[in-house]
Amino acid sequence: MSFEYQNIRLENKENGLWILTINRPEALNALNGTLLNEMGDALRQLSEMDFDHAKALVITGSGNKAFVAGADIKEMTDMSSEKAYQFAQKGQSIFQELNLLKIPVVAAVNGFALGGGCELALGCDFIIASDNAKFGLPEVSLGLIPGFGGTVRLMQAVGLRKAKELIFTGDMISADEAKRLGLVSEVVPQSELISTVEKKLSTILSKSPLAVASSKKSILEAYNVEIDNALQNEAKIFSVLFSSEDTKEGTRAFMEKRKPQFKGI
Ligand code: CAA
Repeated sequence: MSFEYQNIRLENKENGLWILTINRPEALNALNGTLLNEMGDALRQLSEMDFDHAKALVITGSGNKAFVAGADIKEMTDMSSEKAYQFAQKGQSIFQELNLLKIPVVAAVNGFALGGGCELALGCDFIIASDNAKFGLPEVSLGLIPGFGGTVRLMQAVGLRKAKELIFTGDMISADEAKRLGLVSEVVPQSELISTVEKKLSTILSKSPLAVASSKKSILEAYNVEIDNALQNEAKIFSVLFSSEDTKEGTRAFMEKRKPQFKGI
């Protein structure tokens, strides 16, 4: 069984294992509004299934270069603050839905996981990466901040100081470094990525689905106590930047393939 969309694919491999592939390789799988809507729809389909029909979800990117290279910068260029707030809320709520799915969700990161792509991986229960994967929240290079939960979830994943360093510098880190920081569970050659994820999931799927779902709920409730307020705050700060010169300059410079000239206004 599979569901057809324009920008994603949702396929049932076997025995209730679903694979959601972000499928815009020409833009390194960047997340635009339509794609996010499709993802929201796909997650709703899965959330309505019982354990017999949906046991686990794997999220990966199409092609061998990128998992997801971020939110779509073209779509964000010249976005109003109001639209930016709605865009941040849309991404945040879909990644929260991912978090709230009762089945385990694994990110199979097969290349660049930057900005919204790193935030998508952080929204999954855990991450297995190929050895060419690169992680980062480079939004400050565009005069932005992470807007799909990254300021909250990176801190939860790697601790306050490392999260600040990575977000302030916008630096990319390798899969091995991400593993050392505890962001990634396992690093494997790209050709073995999906089979490694399936192997890990087969261990999980041999356990009680109800017990796994209940442990996920309990962990999430412990972690999510403050997350709703934190996410709302992040969306506000993200959207206010869209009336600044720096955000206009940063996103335009990316599209024009030149270095941005930031003025701090
Ligand atoms: N949005 C839109 N298009 C993107 C994109 C993005 N995030 N990332 C890459 N692309 C497009 C490029 O514009 C290019 O398109 P054209 O062929 O039409 O020119 C195509 O994908 C291939 O990209 P590159 O030629 O740049 O490939 P590269 O190998 O030279 O570089 C890269 C790869 C380092 C990942 C580079 O593409 C890059 O820096 N991408 C942007 C990464 C980024 O800044 N992500 C954060 C986005 S902001 C965000 O996500 C906000 C949020 O939290 C909500």
